[in-house]
Amino acid sequence: MIGAPGAGKGTQAVRIAERFGVTHLSSGDLLRRHVADQTSIGRQIERYLAAGELVPDSIVMDVLRKPIVTASAAGGYVLDGFPRTVEQAETAYKVAVDLGVAVQAVVHLVVPRDELVRRLLERGRDSGRSDDNAAVITRRLEIYEAKTLPMLDYYSAREQVVSVDGAGPLDEVTEAVINALDRIRALLAEG
Ligand code: AP5
Ligand code: MG
Repeated sequence: MIGAPGAGKGTQAVRIAERFGVTHLSSGDLLRRHVADQTSIGRQIERYLAAGELVPDSIVMDVLRKPIVTASAAGGYVLDGFPRTVEQAETAYKVAVDLGVAVQAVVHLVVPRDELVRRLLERGRDSGRSDDNAAVITRRLEIYEAKTLPMLDYYSAREQVVSVDGAGPLDEVTEAVINALDRIRALLAEG
């Protein structure tokens, strides 16, 4: 699940995971849990999260590897927030090959910038997230454009990328994502 900050990755990934009976894995949620639990990793990454900067790849992989292996053995996963750079996509590809799994679909949630900012500022009123404030939202959007959007070209060349309009009501977005995934599943089944 690829999308800008506030695009609805987490919200939709939970629903998609439930619908297809797979595990939802959010890199942001896993990283924030380390911060909340004050683990040694949490202490190293707190400032990156608060500034809206990317956490170093080695730490992200340390945090994600085990959950990916577990979810993969349990039947699959929806990844939300990872990979988010071309370098991470290449690493994810190697991990997947080692596990004998493959990306089946890449969903790109598309939402206009003013709506992203509106959602994040609204959430910031009571989310407690250190990065839901105007200055850091601007930085997160900058990084998304500079580092994550180029990754879409990487996937377009290799996998099934579907772009879904994520600006509408929650249920309509969910339905559009499920329809797109059902079409891809049908194509995969045909071989
Ligand atoms: P991460 O947790 O991934 O945050 P993000 O990309 O900024 O995105 P959000 O979680 O804010 O938004 P979302 O797309 O999940 O939308 P949501 O469903 O919540 O990453 C946070 C930080 O962790 C990064 O900045 C970085 O520091 C670090 N990090 C994470 N992964 C990393 C990686 N791979 N490498 C390096 N560093 C990494 O929805 C947003 C709001 O909008 C909610 O309030 C929701 O209720 C609302 N909403 C959703 N859909 C709709 C709708 N259709 N209509 C109206 N409101 C809606
Ligand atoms: Mg999220």
